[in-house]
Amino acid sequence: MNVLVVGKGGREHALVWKLAQSPRVSQVFCAPGNAGTAQDGVNVPIEANDIHELCRFAKKNEIGLTVVGPEEPLALGIVDYFQKEGLRIFGPTKAAAQLETSKVFCKKLMRDADVPTAEFRVFDHPEPARRFVETREYPVVVKADGLAAGKGVIVCDTHAEALAAIERIMVREEFGRAAGRQIVIEKRLEGEELSVLAIVAGRTILTLAPAQDHKRVFDNDTGPNTGGMGAYCPAPLGTSAILDEVEAHALVPTIHAMKRRRMPFRGVLYAGLMVTNQGPRLLEYNVRFGDPETQAVLMRLKTDLFELLLAAAEDRLSDFAEGLQWDPRPAVCVVMASQGYPGPYAKGKLIRGLEDVARMPDVKVFHAGTKIDANHVVTDGGRVLGVTALGDTLADAKRNAYSAVGKISFQGAFWRTDIADKALRHLHGTTAPASESL
Ligand code: AMP
Ligand code: GLY
Repeated sequence: MNVLVVGKGGREHALVWKLAQSPRVSQVFCAPGNAGTAQDGVNVPIEANDIHELCRFAKKNEIGLTVVGPEEPLALGIVDYFQKEGLRIFGPTKAAAQLETSKVFCKKLMRDADVPTAEFRVFDHPEPARRFVETREYPVVVKADGLAAGKGVIVCDTHAEALAAIERIMVREEFGRAAGRQIVIEKRLEGEELSVLAIVAGRTILTLAPAQDHKRVFDNDTGPNTGGMGAYCPAPLGTSAILDEVEAHALVPTIHAMKRRRMPFRGVLYAGLMVTNQGPRLLEYNVRFGDPETQAVLMRLKTDLFELLLAAAEDRLSDFAEGLQWDPRPAVCVVMASQGYPGPYAKGKLIRGLEDVARMPDVKVFHAGTKIDANHVVTDGGRVLGVTALGDTLADAKRNAYSAVGKISFQGAFWRTDIADKALRHLHGTTAPASESL
């Protein structure tokens, strides 16, 4: 069967690489893809949001399954459109994607379904929002309702910062008019973040191994937020007790609430959690694979991803009720980025050393912002590569990943040097218990 992956980042390269390993897959196409997806699959020059063209391509090339990477095409209704045209696709409908595309929808659903989350209020005018902030005794987070390329969430230390955030979102409409029409103001929680991704279809929820992202650009979680500078899997913070709690108190009630709203969820349900002293609290849902968590997670997945996603798309995920197979070894993904990211950065820089690293065992370089230029791989984005490695222990995986990073170079390259350190500190007997699988 032919498969189409929609998107062009590191997550999509990991999906292409893993799907291509299935004996039942003939060809994996990626639209529009990058230099890495062109090596493990075939690139198609169609943008991820061009749903009509993607559909036409899928029909013409007998695509048996389409897998959507980013949120935008989901928000635009790619799944509804493909299904109407009789094409098999893995992902949520436009209505179900509101779990990610509207913070107000998501928080109201959490409240109705009793999902543990930060207490919150919704506002559609700035004045009552300002009055609310001024009467709070705790720090708050101000969130634009709609998609804002990951930038519409402002974590505030003081009232003044919260007032400025309201101004930016609602008055100056910095994240767009639609995204800023409503805001959520919620209590700022303290703790450590954890990503739990689940494949969901019908009543079946298959939770993937827990991962941790590194959102800040610099070491020790300093500097501005990014799309993610590295990840590791499994995250020892995600003990089986925590995962059971997330499933029972977040995923299951959410799936039921979505069904009651006549928008049954099918696709990846990604719970972005804060593990607080009182237990895990849901910060947000995404309705797609995480980037760069997926690179670390899929490095360890032994189950045939194509069979799994096909089963989900055909509503027979219970075929996998016995669970998924994992490589017991942990994986670490280190993102190599372009100087200046997440602000402006240069493109078109020659990347050296990829051939050397291709010979290293248990290492895979997932491309994110790369393209081929005159037979050379050059940079084409802020996050350029996700250098991912397995190791017998988490410390070995980290060492292997950084040893590969050391062999790769491009002008202006930078990366965090502390990916997985939080888990290594836990494992060496500080705050949280280690998971049995490490
Ligand atoms: P979200 O898009 O809601 O996940 O927010 C993006 C990031 O903002 C999260 O990954 C957290 O780092 C932070 N964040 C969101 N909500 C809260 C909260 N209630 N307390 C503390 N940090 C938060
Ligand atoms: N890793 C964060 C995200 O995919 O949104």
